[in-house]
Amino acid sequence: MIVIAIDGPAGSGKSTVGRRLAERLGLTYLDTGAMYRAVAFAAIRQGLDPEDRDRVAALARAVDIVVDDSGVRVDDIDATVEIRGPEVTRAVSVVAANPEVRTELRARQRAWAIERGGGVIEGRDIGTVVFPDALLKVYLTASPEVRASRRAKEMTDLDYDEVAADIARRDAADSGRADSPLATAGDAVTLDTSDIGIEAAVDELVGLVERRRTELAGPGGTPGGAG
Ligand code: DC
Repeated sequence: MIVIAIDGPAGSGKSTVGRRLAERLGLTYLDTGAMYRAVAFAAIRQGLDPEDRDRVAALARAVDIVVDDSGVRVDDIDATVEIRGPEVTRAVSVVAANPEVRTELRARQRAWAIERGGGVIEGRDIGTVVFPDALLKVYLTASPEVRASRRAKEMTDLDYDEVAADIARRDAADSGRADSPLATAGDAVTLDTSDIGIEAAVDELVGLVERRRTELAGPGGTPGGAG
């Protein structure tokens, strides 16, 4: 199984870089943030308080989530657009700090990778917790200003200041929570995308993956890597 783990804060370029890298390597791509957003979406739809740990955890275990290239379906409802909206974005940090939700979604992420023989998997705890044996761990980052202006371009209904404040709030929540906070794995490669283009970042990562595969293969060996 070949797993490429990409972690980093909101707006660091994870999704674009992850998708492009997966294409270049012929692997499938998984956005785990969309899974946390899907649980938040389902909780809102059912009128649950996102802070209600037990009910939200039970919901996370029961809900059907499909995340793929065509979008996100939650109990067979197309939630692709709504999971990016302000309501879900406000609720998702609380949902993602719920340890039982994390246990459930991690299990699904591992099952997803086993089914596909690996993939490019993006989130906050992928290299640190979910796939500690990933072939390559990447920590993508960018300055807070660059990250906020990237997100502001995606969110048509919010201006730069609102997005910057939201990103700062989520950075603090994601990095400060007790269960698997956003952190750099000791063996991760850190890449700052503030000044380099997405294509340059992808090129660099493709090169690193190829090098890792060759190192693992050794002289005359078979490329592999636990994931
Ligand atoms: O990447 P994103 O903004 O779509 O992530 C949504 C939320 O989910 C964000 O608050 C961080 C959280 N998240 C997480 O805790 N662990 C992951 N593996 C992925 C996302």
